[in-house]
Amino acid sequence: MGLRTIFKKTLYNLKYTKKRNNSVSGKYFLITGASSGIGLSLTKNLLNKNKVIGVYNSNKSNLDLIRSNNLIKVKCNLSDYSDFENLNKTISNKKIDTIINCAGIFGSNNQSLENIEFENLLNTFKINSVSIIKILQVMEKKNLIKFLSKIINLSSDGGSIQLNNQGNAYIYRLTKSALNSISKNLSVDLFKRYKTEVITIDPGNVKTNMNPKGFLSADKCSEYILNIAFDKKNKLNGKFINLQKKEIPW
Ligand SMILES: NC(=O)c1ccc[n+]([C@@H]2O[C@H](COP(=O)([O-])OP(=O)(O)OC[C@H]3O[C@@H](n4cnc5c(N)ncnc54)[C@H](OP(=O)(O)O)[C@@H]3O)[C@@H](O)[C@H]2O)c1
Repeated sequence: MGLRTIFKKTLYNLKYTKKRNNSVSGKYFLITGASSGIGLSLTKNLLNKNKVIGVYNSNKSNLDLIRSNNLIKVKCNLSDYSDFENLNKTISNKKIDTIINCAGIFGSNNQSLENIEFENLLNTFKINSVSIIKILQVMEKKNLIKFLSKIINLSSDGGSIQLNNQGNAYIYRLTKSALNSISKNLSVDLFKRYKTEVITIDPGNVKTNMNPKGFLSADKCSEYILNIAFDKKNKLNGKFINLQKKEIPW
């Protein structure tokens, strides 16, 4: 890593101090993308005091290393609708308090206009954008949405239409913009019906499989996400925010 990058990384991390979180205990959390990166860190953090239904696709081994009776692992490829039956069976009648929707992929390495592959685009759309709707449909059939106090969708500032001044990454940007649209819509709909808060977060520049050169550790990022998840002021419903709770334009 060059000096310039070290300097930038240090500056970036200065914004993130130790977060003291209020916490909750004895609740059910459903975490998608629980097998890697930010979702894995959130899962480990929450298991001390809560139960986690951890959704994975291909990386079960990371979850197998966790020794906790509070972890329930469920294999669900979010782009394969027959797999949702696994989720259906696992959820059973569990009163899930919070969903943290972390699952996501970048799409492909080459997303220039002439290289977009439509199968790939649609597959990414299923995972990044509409999987939260499918999960909620599974819960609604069991009349469980009324117990949900929060949904946190991990989006990206790449999904902000207003901030886009680069004209690249078509697949990632469009699927995150769609997630933002769904998230905002849910925040109106579910808050009206059940007082469920729906919050959209850009986690920043985080070192994970998706972003190996990221500046912030997944553990630090998850501290900040939990600070938002445990926020009791109830002022974040319908907002698109960064880890410091600063609003990002849609
Ligand atoms: N890292 C960053 O800098 C950054 C920046 C902005 C936004 N984000 C967003 O943050 C979220 C978490 O990403 P991350 O950085 O933690 O990346 P990551 O380490 O690559 O984790 C991605 C997770 O998504 C899951 N996933 C992928 N395809 C799936 C599928 N078909 N079905 C079910 N699960 C699937 C993976 O499961 P398996 O491993 O089991 O396949 C994995 O647990 C993503 O939505 C990402 O877009 C990240």
